[in-house]
Amino acid sequence: MNDLSVLPTSFTWGVATSAYQIEGAVSEDGRSPSIWDTFSHTPGKVAGGDTGDVACDHYHRWPEDLGIMKELGVDAYRFSIAWPRIMPDGAGPVNQAGLAYYDRLVDALLGAGITPFPTLYHWDLPQALQDRGGWASRETASRFADYAAAVSGLLGDRVKDWGTLNEPRCAAWIGNLEGRHAPGLADIDVAVPVSYHLLLAHGLAAQALRAAVPDARIGIINVMHTCEPATDRSEDIEATTRYDGHVNRWWLDPIHGRGFPADMREIYRVALPEQPGDAETIATPLDWEGVNYYSPTIISDDPGGGVPYARETPPDGVPQTMLRWEIRAAGLEQVLVRVATEYGARSLYVTENGSAWADHITPDGQVHDQGRVRYLEEHLAACGRAVARGVPLAGYFAWSLLDNFEWDYGYDARFGLVYVDYESQRRTVKDSGRRYADIITSHRQRPAVTAPDGDLG
Ligand code: FCB
Repeated sequence: MNDLSVLPTSFTWGVATSAYQIEGAVSEDGRSPSIWDTFSHTPGKVAGGDTGDVACDHYHRWPEDLGIMKELGVDAYRFSIAWPRIMPDGAGPVNQAGLAYYDRLVDALLGAGITPFPTLYHWDLPQALQDRGGWASRETASRFADYAAAVSGLLGDRVKDWGTLNEPRCAAWIGNLEGRHAPGLADIDVAVPVSYHLLLAHGLAAQALRAAVPDARIGIINVMHTCEPATDRSEDIEATTRYDGHVNRWWLDPIHGRGFPADMREIYRVALPEQPGDAETIATPLDWEGVNYYSPTIISDDPGGGVPYARETPPDGVPQTMLRWEIRAAGLEQVLVRVATEYGARSLYVTENGSAWADHITPDGQVHDQGRVRYLEEHLAACGRAVARGVPLAGYFAWSLLDNFEWDYGYDARFGLVYVDYESQRRTVKDSGRRYADIITSHRQRPAVTAPDGDLG
């Protein structure tokens, strides 16, 4: 893969996970239930009735998982901190036993030469806060800032790279408008204030982090899709603009100081709970932005459907993963170039990228996940092309280190570079994990390169 020679020597190679998807140990050391515990225990919400009760048991097995990260040779580990472990009631004093877990993890990572790259919120809102209104309440944004201040105050002497929210778009829309994720609501009058308070919480937390850790590098993680019309009918073209507004612009515009998109406000027809100063808080300057990318979307007009009256058309006759997500690496290049040119992002990470397959162990004891190897190579090549065009891409985190609890899909959708046998909790590095390790090693052995001065546009 020659295309990678363009990546700067300082490029960060990482793997990503999130707390509820891997930790298990849901009632240990004072952790309280999150909205995902409630949701996954509600019959019919998650495929196979799966829950995160045990997941990958990472809470106990993290030393082994750290050993695997060392074997892969990664520079950084993106994990998330579970708010219900730190502040079980969502507010109030820190639960020292919960914090101690992350404290040990951080020390061990640093000892292994791996940079801790935590995200403060990966969808596991303490249920206690949901019971008091959840993200629909402005209070929750303030509580998030308190939590950010407490955690960073205690870990910030060692942890410098902080992400506030993971994919607020999914937390708001999938959780409160489509009902497929926790808390399982389908109500635009709730979902819009939720979206607003999530971004407000992000801004408040960024300020709290900056105050607690002056040399912190702070960012937010958004998921991005390329959007294109299913046909050249004007209805589909307009639907595509709405869909892009819904999934991309609604989230990117406000954090870049452009406010919430006017066209989408008209479509949602729900008043935003705006207060003076909020717009500036939401646009608090950041050090980096995370882009999660999985697939492009093909959009059709859907006048009879819900907001935004546009729907994804499942792809036909194109390469796709087991979740029927289209595989198109050029889309990653496209979204990276977009954030750099349209929004002027100064430092970007691919904070998640990966593919789900129905992997299995073959008689030789290995997992030959050729689909994932190809996906990884193609998407890394797309990163190389983006950098060659001038995108300030600082690193790449593969989703995911381990097979894990894939939200409403449960455990069947395997995204890991490492296979997890959930019965025995045995880990097996897949072919893709080995390939990633080789790519990292050969990148390190290259002569030093600094980022090219590409011609963005
Ligand atoms: C992203 C989530 C992550 C994982 C991947 C497949 O939307 O951030 O937790 O589920 O999708």
